[in-house]
Amino acid sequence: MALLLFFNFLLLLSGLRFSLALQETPSTTTRSGQINSNSVLVALLDSHYTELAELVEKALLLQTLEETVGKHNITIFAPKNEALERDLDPEFKRFLLEPGNLKSLQTLLLYHIVPSRIEPHSWPKSTSDSTRHRTLSNDRVELSSEDSSGAKFIGTAKVINPNAVDRPDGVIHGVEQLLIPRSVQQDFNNRRSLRSISAVKPEGAPEVDPRTHRLKKPAPPVLPGAPPVLPIYDAMAPGPSLAPAPAPGPGGPHHHFNGMRQVKDFIQTLLQYGGYNEMADILVNLTSLATEMGRLVSEGYVLTVLAPNDEAMAKLTTDQLSEPGAPEQIIYYHVIPEYQTEESMYNAVRRFGKVSYDTLRLPHKVLAQEADGSVKFGHADGSAYLFDPDIYTDGRISVQGIDGVLFPPEEKTKDEKKTIKVATAKPRRGKLLEVACRMLVAIGQDSRFSACHL
Ligand SMILES: *[C@@H]1O[C@H](CO)[C@@H](O)[C@H](O)[C@H]1NC(C)=O
Ligand SMILES: *[C@@H]1O[C@H](CO)[C@@H](O)[C@H](O)[C@H]1NC(C)=O
Repeated sequence: MALLLFFNFLLLLSGLRFSLALQETPSTTTRSGQINSNSVLVALLDSHYTELAELVEKALLLQTLEETVGKHNITIFAPKNEALERDLDPEFKRFLLEPGNLKSLQTLLLYHIVPSRIEPHSWPKSTSDSTRHRTLSNDRVELSSEDSSGAKFIGTAKVINPNAVDRPDGVIHGVEQLLIPRSVQQDFNNRRSLRSISAVKPEGAPEVDPRTHRLKKPAPPVLPGAPPVLPIYDAMAPGPSLAPAPAPGPGGPHHHFNGMRQVKDFIQTLLQYGGYNEMADILVNLTSLATEMGRLVSEGYVLTVLAPNDEAMAKLTTDQLSEPGAPEQIIYYHVIPEYQTEESMYNAVRRFGKVSYDTLRLPHKVLAQEADGSVKFGHADGSAYLFDPDIYTDGRISVQGIDGVLFPPEEKTKDEKKTIKVATAKPRRGKLLEVACRMLVAIGQDSRFSACHL
């Protein structure tokens, strides 16, 4: 309450030309970044969605949002105050407000904002349709409608006040409930189960990592209070590089995308993310591998990389690495020639129980199944959990952090490996593309990809 009063006081103070730079940087003045008083953000702060407005401020997101509305219209799905006051699990609320969980709070709030204008008429008309929109948290939300009542939904939350606020740079739709992205729910659940462990933890016991329930060795990969992992423009600016990859037509040009740049981007993202230096190193050191991935992406293929984190990589023995070509083989087994996000994989394993994905290490597939509310890859003795979801997702390359290094269930003999390598490929073709083409031949799809016929 005190905060709210303080907040209103600030609003009064700053009047109409209220600049949203409430926080540290008082660069309020005539710079081009200044926010208009008729901005949807100003309206949010002045609306009756005061609880949400307060959280946005606590999450230090005003500056970010201010920059966003400078470039894009936005749509805010604003939970009504009661949803945040009365209806929210107090323990969850406490979790969100702990300073160490700033990132969860930011993710949660950014999940309520889409970097485009969604008008009420953009909702699908019938139950059978639904449309998805990428939010500023980089997760997607689904718009749907109920046939019988015509009610509009965002995820599972009913839209109770469409166009509650309509401004030149965005709209606010009032919704009945808070939208909780799965990653935040998971962080909270992990935290809660950790608390029951730590209740009996003797003094001086080794520290348990809340995300994995395993012993923590080196420094935690993510600093408390770190800004959202992906740069916000990744979630915004759905320019050509975010559009779904068009299937390359026969004989068509294949150089719409700069795949090399995308590969560099994702390696850079891995490095900045922290905890994936080994994997990034291998990709940098084995330039041929990165080059092949870049070429594949330039050709219009899509890839999902399951990136083992540093702790997992540290467990690799010299034996496992010493064979010639071993690092490449290991990496190939971690690359799926499909574009999958955490959400799509989780939905698949939840629906189907077990799902096996092709890898670029023919003929081996990697098995995925649901476990502990997450996706588990691999087999009993060598499995890994999806640990850091959606580290990088740009529509063509998806990088998912996992906490183990995967090996095919039973290694084939050397001879068999050789047969695989003796492909009919022309020398100009890279190894990765070659494998991809062989795979496409196997499923009868090769004719769609003219690159396979060079
Ligand atoms: C926001 O949407 C309005 C109305 O559709 C449009 O006129 C305006 O140019 C948009 N602003 C930006 C920054 O895209
Ligand atoms: C990559 O190369 C650097 C420099 O040559 C080396 O220090 C590092 O150990 C290499 N990393 C891997 C994973 O091979």
